[in-house]
Amino acid sequence: MTKPVFEEIAPFNLDKFLTASKPLDLTGINLDDAGKYPLSMSEVKVLRYMQDTEFYTVHYMKALMETSALADAECRAFLVCWGYEECFHGRALARILEVCGHEPSKRSLDEFARPRKFAEVLQDAGGRLLSAISSDFIAVHNTWGAINELTAVHAYTRLANLSANPVLAQVCKRIVKDERRHFAFYYAQAKRRLDNALARRMTKTAIRALWEPVGGSMAPREERDFVGAYLFNDEDGHARLAEIDSTIAKLPAMEWFKMVTADVLAGNERMRRAGVSIDRPVLATA
Ligand SMILES: [Fe+2]
Ligand SMILES: [Fe+2]
Repeated sequence: MTKPVFEEIAPFNLDKFLTASKPLDLTGINLDDAGKYPLSMSEVKVLRYMQDTEFYTVHYMKALMETSALADAECRAFLVCWGYEECFHGRALARILEVCGHEPSKRSLDEFARPRKFAEVLQDAGGRLLSAISSDFIAVHNTWGAINELTAVHAYTRLANLSANPVLAQVCKRIVKDERRHFAFYYAQAKRRLDNALARRMTKTAIRALWEPVGGSMAPREERDFVGAYLFNDEDGHARLAEIDSTIAKLPAMEWFKMVTADVLAGNERMRRAGVSIDRPVLATA
């Protein structure tokens, strides 16, 4: 495995982040060239899930903008650029699916068009209420974001390493660059905002009770399990999961955190018991 992400992050400079925010850098890449190489059916499933997750960011952004994050100048500025950048990740993945002869997922479109479920309305109201009671709510959001963005860094790195499609691999590596910047913001914010007992207590309680992997609220559990198994169920994958957990565990009050490994391994076990097989592309270098 490469050097841990945690050691590579420089002190976060929000102004630099905002100035550098732009659509996914595809310089030198022609997405249509991806069609010259096949995708495995497993890759198609994983890409659709990732595409949905990227597009669904706008939903998280909306929910967060209805909390005290809106009044926080740093969070507000970041969230706008974050949603913008994630949208371009989704568009690139959808285009790759298309040129490789597979239909992109329509789930995020359907999700946005349907009426909100009662449980979701309650959940959003809970977030607003919590944020109105205490500004320390933002520490929860930032810690949550750090977990999910670091997971995205490793997920796209693995997707690139496991793919026999060189264009997809290149695009994933470019997406990783953005995900690292997102992670750097959330991690630096979480570190700073977990500076008092209430923020630490709220974060610990909320993450323990409510956290689930990114995209988990939208996709059926079997799909989430499949993606986790495809990307992380081998030696390198397990090392990456441990790296995510140990990085988050370095945050104040998070020393207990091992939830990413636990969640993915439980999913792997469900997949094994259900007898689901995963095909990975045969790599030329393998
Ligand atoms: Fe992304
Ligand atoms: Fe991201």
